[in-house]
Amino acid sequence: MSDIRHLIRTSDFSTQEIITLFHNALHYKQLLMSKTPTHQPLKHKNVITIFFENSTRTLSSFELAVKNLGGDILRLDVSRSSTSKGETISDTAANLNAMNPDAIIIRHRNAGAGYYLSAHVNCPIINGGDGAHSHPTQALLDLLTIIEHFGLEELQTLKNADTIAPFAPLDSIKGKKIAIVGDVVNSRVANSNIELLTRFGMEVILVAPPHFLPQTSLRTSDNLKAIAQEVDVIMSLRTQTERHDQVIYGSLKDYASRFCVTKEIVGNNPCIILHPGPVHRNIDIDDEVLKDSRSKVLEQVTNGVCVRMAALDFLIA
Ligand code: CP
Repeated sequence: MSDIRHLIRTSDFSTQEIITLFHNALHYKQLLMSKTPTHQPLKHKNVITIFFENSTRTLSSFELAVKNLGGDILRLDVSRSSTSKGETISDTAANLNAMNPDAIIIRHRNAGAGYYLSAHVNCPIINGGDGAHSHPTQALLDLLTIIEHFGLEELQTLKNADTIAPFAPLDSIKGKKIAIVGDVVNSRVANSNIELLTRFGMEVILVAPPHFLPQTSLRTSDNLKAIAQEVDVIMSLRTQTERHDQVIYGSLKDYASRFCVTKEIVGNNPCIILHPGPVHRNIDIDDEVLKDSRSKVLEQVTNGVCVRMAALDFLIA
């Protein structure tokens, strides 16, 4: 069996590995914040990005992460690649693999694309999002943002990874409630977060109109106002109109009237508010809440660079 590690789903990393990854990510964050150069574990390493779907945060933060660690990045421009001339994705992968990269980061509209590629290459595949299936680094950066708020001290005391139990190692977030709000059924971010946050002992409540809910054994609700009062974290999602094969709402305004995270909905709850981006302002979250100190949306972006640095370091170096 190959000993190459891939990151296709959050379950590819053990709990111990995730705790260690977070330690390293916070170390990188400190260095980046103080503008201190990091060591260069990716020096002479080449990383290829192939994004078949648009991206602002994931692509640029992966590229920054590679550069911060001293590596070289090659971005394959999909619109100019030979996939547009009919080359299959596995042939594209096999050809890129023949150039001996040290990792390939892929985003694709088809669920399972990263998993499929991993069989055709001999370097780590990192999934930057595949259809509605999985977006592991997003969930990792989301969990780090939650831990920074509720459990930083406890994380810092967990220096020795050998002592970490396989499940729910952080008492400070165990039992905390998170509402994941919006187009859950089409969201790879929701899928990866459900997988990861329940592993860390959080209670996930899905808040959405019935047609945006997957089949689930988790608690569900269509009453955001009531649920917003009892949770510690609200994670709003974008309505993924590109994945809808029929128009579900008369307008996004109809949807927003029930599921937009507003100041009135949040009230005085000292919760934190997350969103993976891109945010539909005043549909997913209103302007006022985005400016509120409880909104950690830009902190998530900052943490994205550090988590991806730690993941690249782990998988490649
Ligand atoms: N959160 C996220 O995946 O954003 P991008 O689509 O901009 O990468």
